[in-house]
Amino acid sequence: MKIVLDIGGSIVASPAPNVPYIKGLAELLIELQREGHRVMVVVGGGRLARDYVATARELGASEDYCDEVGIGATRMNAMLLIAALGEHAVKALRKNTLGAAKAKKILVMGGTKPRQTTDAVSAQLAWRTHADLLVVATNVDGVYDSDPKTHPKAKRLPRVTPRQLVKLVSTKEYRAGSTAVVDPLAARIIERNRIRTVVLDGRRLENIRAAVSGGEHGGTVVG
Ligand code: UTP
Repeated sequence: MKIVLDIGGSIVASPAPNVPYIKGLAELLIELQREGHRVMVVVGGGRLARDYVATARELGASEDYCDEVGIGATRMNAMLLIAALGEHAVKALRKNTLGAAKAKKILVMGGTKPRQTTDAVSAQLAWRTHADLLVVATNVDGVYDSDPKTHPKAKRLPRVTPRQLVKLVSTKEYRAGSTAVVDPLAARIIERNRIRTVVLDGRRLENIRAAVSGGEHGGTVVG
């Protein structure tokens, strides 16, 4: 399978880079590649992005400039994963999704351009490379019918249609450093291109493995 993994900065590096996690993730990705899967990864900015975006904003930066700062953070985290993957990764950090389909080794990237998050980069990458599966690995166990942070009775949905996903996330207004389980632009790309997607708790690596092998991943299937 051709797999795009959208890995939240919140699990890779929040508050600081999580070395055992990054090592474990690299091992899993190498294992998947050895099994014959093609693996591409987009890494989020996590705490580093949030802190630096907030600081840039406090210093009077425009929203687009704040986004550029956030992109820098995603790329720093992506570089850590490249370090852990060693010879198995494409060495140079990719700055856009063009030509990604040609990569033979594990391709790792961060953000690309302002006004979106790495979720949108992942969805674009999945679309561009005709990926079989997009795995959104985040720090919640899937898509909820309302925001679980503010609605204690919010329920996790084991399956949503792409349309439902778009509706559920489109109430969130986009702002540099903001959080929604999947960003609205990513949801629209998933819907338009019918990308097979799973949203799951990526803090447990076995969930990512299960999503690829067709096992129980405890997340939400979009489709
Ligand atoms: P993230 O993709 O990490 O967003 O990008 P996030 O919502 O904070 O996700 P988690 O917590 O890592 O899962 C961090 C910030 O970088 C900018 C945005 O400001 C975003 O909020 N960014 C990222 C862009 O402007 N463009 C990109 O392509 C990626």
